[in-house]
Amino acid sequence: MNQKCFIFDLDGVIVDTAKYHFLAWQKLAQQLGIDFTPEHNEQLKGVSRVRSLDIILSLGNFEASQEDKNKWLVQKNEDYLSYLVNMDESEILPGVIPVLAFLKEKNQKIVLGSASKNAKPILEKAKIIDFFDAVVDGNDVSNAKPDPEVFLQGAKKVNFPPEKCIVFEDSVAGIQAANIGGMTSVGIGDEAVLNEADYVFPDFTHIDLNFIENLVNK
Ligand code: BG6
Ligand code: MG
Repeated sequence: MNQKCFIFDLDGVIVDTAKYHFLAWQKLAQQLGIDFTPEHNEQLKGVSRVRSLDIILSLGNFEASQEDKNKWLVQKNEDYLSYLVNMDESEILPGVIPVLAFLKEKNQKIVLGSASKNAKPILEKAKIIDFFDAVVDGNDVSNAKPDPEVFLQGAKKVNFPPEKCIVFEDSVAGIQAANIGGMTSVGIGDEAVLNEADYVFPDFTHIDLNFIENLVNK
């Protein structure tokens, strides 16, 4: 039987939380008088919390002490989590569950590979944690995407070589990480932004289960 390892990013791929990251960062940027647009936000997708703050501060040529940075990181995360207090399955993006269910039925490995330190509680709130054979998140890695560490760790946890792994990602950094790691990359989002991916779909409703089956048998 053919078996592959399907690695999913979390924010913006499985759940619609990318919008909440944006809102929380935008609030902080406004507080600091820094202009922060949805276009700027593309640079933050897939990027760690600490690095995201540095990018925002550099947009405003803003110098800050480590103490202030730590305070803002806590504030941003509290704001972000406040959007998730009542989170449930309704935040799962359209088309995701049929793909996860199909992979389970076909006995494929399913792994989470996310930069977020909030990944596990989010999977629990969305009631989908049981789909996953392994979870690697921002608490486990020291090198952020585009470094492939998060995906390589995920593959290792289920004993799969990179060439048998397929990564679903909504961020440029994540697609680069998959490519550098020697995995097949599937972009979820805008083709113009994710042009380095092996395949791109606007969202999971556009992914035919035959496409998934072909990846299994490739
Ligand atoms: C990524 C998001 O999944 O996780 C980024 O795309 C986010 O926007 C990063 O900054 C870290 O998330 P968290 O939940 O640890 O702040
Ligand atoms: Mg993402």
